[in-house]
Amino acid sequence: MLFVAAAAAISAPAMAEPRRSATEDCAACHGLDGIARDTEMPHLAGQNERYLFNQMMAFRSGKRAHKEMRYMARQMSIEEIAALAAHYAVFPPR
Ligand code: HEC
Repeated sequence: MLFVAAAAAISAPAMAEPRRSATEDCAACHGLDGIARDTEMPHLAGQNERYLFNQMMAFRSGKRAHKEMRYMARQMSIEEIAALAAHYAVFPPR
């Protein structure tokens, strides 16, 4: 645990990893592993990276209308959206 924290502190700026707090925000609805626990939330795990990226950009611009996701997406930079898309794409789908 300590090692992980130290490694993250050293390499954080260079890593294409989403902020830890960002994935925690998403986890409330989409699950830590991208498997949503609520039937009204879509699973993100194993979804195509480009698809995830495009959807978040669409929420951000308002092209895809959804109150919560627009709010979430507006807090994120494009780099962060790309990192989140890559993050959820690698989890095994359900
Ligand atoms: C308050 C609950 C909530 C939170 C928090 C949340 N989402 Fe969502 N998300 C949803 C819901 C509900 C949808 C389905 C939207 C719709 O019906 O169009 C969705 C849709 C999505 C989609 C599109 C999925 C698809 O199959 O088209 C992506 C990608 C996504 N969310 C990513 C994220 C990320 C990344 C975060 C964290 C930064 C996040 N969400 C945080 C509720 C949430």
